[in-house]
Amino acid sequence: MFATLQPPASVTTPALPHDLFEAIATLKQELNAIVLAHYYQESDIQDIADYIGDSLGLSQQAAMTEADVIVFAGVHFMAETAKILNPNKLVLLPDLNAGCSLADSCPPAKFAKFKAKHPDHLVISYINCTAAIKAMSDIICTSANAVSIVRQIPPEQPIIFAPDKNLGRYVMEQTGRDLVLWQGTCMVHETFSEKKMVQLKVEHPGAEIIAHPECEPAVLRHADYVGSTTGLLKYSQQSPRSSFIVVTEPGIIHQMRKNTPGKTFIPAPALNNCACNECPHMRLNTLEKLYLAMKHKSPEVNVPEDIRVDAIRPIQRMLAMS
Ligand code: 13P
Ligand code: SF4
Repeated sequence: MFATLQPPASVTTPALPHDLFEAIATLKQELNAIVLAHYYQESDIQDIADYIGDSLGLSQQAAMTEADVIVFAGVHFMAETAKILNPNKLVLLPDLNAGCSLADSCPPAKFAKFKAKHPDHLVISYINCTAAIKAMSDIICTSANAVSIVRQIPPEQPIIFAPDKNLGRYVMEQTGRDLVLWQGTCMVHETFSEKKMVQLKVEHPGAEIIAHPECEPAVLRHADYVGSTTGLLKYSQQSPRSSFIVVTEPGIIHQMRKNTPGKTFIPAPALNNCACNECPHMRLNTLEKLYLAMKHKSPEVNVPEDIRVDAIRPIQRMLAMS
């Protein structure tokens, strides 16, 4: 006898409503929920979100929301940050597997040893890290405020910067400070091809190159503007130029096109043969999964209380310094 190949009824795909947009709007009312979405989410999710932003904007929204339920359309460390700030609220992540290669590149046990080698250093960690790393940090930063936060630290104070070495190098360049860098990277931003980007610039000589600071230095040296996703969006609106080579995850282009429909946005190519460079973690979330998460109030993101109490302090310091 062979075992049946049919899954039990409880794990079959549930029927979805005909109009997911309407169904999500109804659930928002019923749950008193807010949907926070990062710019790297698929366009439909951006369109149903109550707030779309970069990591800084999203954590500021999470800190001030009066909603009972936070639906975080982003990756795990972002939802975790929202939970750290709101221990009594339900925080939902449409797909619990939506992780981050950069956060994974800094395992807590190894980081504890690294930190122990530099006992007199202040630890500034990029928000793209786990709650356990946040709990070992003095101040959190994002790509929007990393330079300004480091500038606020007295020059004689040595600093460890973790986990992104590219953002760390960019901050060193901008501030003239010597930082001790953890050698982490983002799998999306480290794979943009300098060669293909320069070829694209030759084909579009009037286009400005706008890049995220998680990119490799060889890519950043060609950029006309470097900034967080919100920074890139604002720059593309304000610049008198009409075309841009966008060197970050291409989800942001949805907002760029919405904000300035007359302008041209060209996604920068990756080293492989794909013309785009989508974050496989961010793209695990879908509108369907978001609806199901709200309907079933699951999957929920939780943080152990001992880690949460240590992790909230550096986040609050960042919010106060921003
Ligand atoms: P920002 O949201 O700070 O622009 O960072 C982009 C990113 O990689 C988020 O995962
Ligand atoms: Fe992490 Fe990079 Fe994806 Fe952002 S784009 S979530 S840093 S892997």
